[in-house]
Amino acid sequence: HTPWPGLITAYRDRLPVCDTWEAGWEPVTLREGATPLLPAKALSELTGCDVHLKVEGLNPTGSFKDRGMTMAVTEAKATGKKGVLCASTGNTSASAAAYAAIAGIECAVLVPAGKIAMGKLAQAVMYGAKIIEVDGNFDDCLELARKTTATFDTIALVNSVNPVRIEGQKTAAFEIVDALGKAPDVHALPVGNAGNITAYWRGYSEYFADGVISSRPRMLGVQAAGAAPLVNGAPVKDPETIATAIRIGSPASWNQAVAAKDESNGEFRAATDEKLLEAYRLIAKAEGVFVEPASAASVAGLLAATADGWIEKGSTVVCTVTGNGLKDPDTALSSLPEIARVGIDPVAVASAMGLTE
Ligand code: F0G
Repeated sequence: HTPWPGLITAYRDRLPVCDTWEAGWEPVTLREGATPLLPAKALSELTGCDVHLKVEGLNPTGSFKDRGMTMAVTEAKATGKKGVLCASTGNTSASAAAYAAIAGIECAVLVPAGKIAMGKLAQAVMYGAKIIEVDGNFDDCLELARKTTATFDTIALVNSVNPVRIEGQKTAAFEIVDALGKAPDVHALPVGNAGNITAYWRGYSEYFADGVISSRPRMLGVQAAGAAPLVNGAPVKDPETIATAIRIGSPASWNQAVAAKDESNGEFRAATDEKLLEAYRLIAKAEGVFVEPASAASVAGLLAATADGWIEKGSTVVCTVTGNGLKDPDTALSSLPEIARVGIDPVAVASAMGLTE
């Protein structure tokens, strides 16, 4: 039994590695990927579909970003860059910081001041990144990151506008097909900057072109209602949502996301913060998977689309849950139920459990 080697080694023949890279390059890897595709029993019963959760919060830094970051930082190191830079709502920065740490290169992250979840900030601090707060939103941070890396060529931009990020992230679609033995009928996922929907569609399309699958899923991209440019058909100037990971008004991969939707006969939907939080609690309570609020967008979309018939009963549906709930303890604890407090008293404990009979 050989241990999982990480994405680049596992999918090397499907990834654009090495052509222009220094001889002797090695993957910068934390053994990302190979995340569970979890059959979601309660959600299947609720919707009449065969629902699976692709649990991306179990990647090394707790989000799907690690799939792209192993590629981006490997490339940065193998092409002699001295540092990496990203704009981020939190997860990209945590991931970039971790991979830069093991690559031994500098990392700085541009984050919207006061608008990233506490766990993500803690990760970037611990991995040793330089944290730079920007007076502005994610879109402003990305513009600044693009300008900086365009001016200083020893610094690599590791946002999903870097093409190798998308290449790494497409491997999640391969894993889903490998686990299901087919493509799902529908694939639902949260959409912010729109890199991930682009990546999944590329993954499915490559397997389809090679005859590994005979059909591709309809892509259901779900945005937060206060940050839903793709649903509205126009950028949102001041995006706002509790799901800070997808608080983005001007997605960089706009055209690719629209292509994924159109070519797959798919759809963009918006979910209100209330619906996101409902789904967020349901995934934890009914499936035992603690995700961050943005990740619940996929399930909020599933619930809405099965309720109005866009997804037919009996369909096989995969929902990507993109990030780990531990990253955002504040949102989890904002609905804290009353906490019982007892002495060293077994009866009081059983009584607090309502199980004294
Ligand atoms: N879910 C989570 C948990 C995310 O962190 C992100 C994006 C998305 C979904 C949306 O993915 O941008 O490819 O459409 N987070 C980025 C970041 C923007 O900076 O961490 P997307």
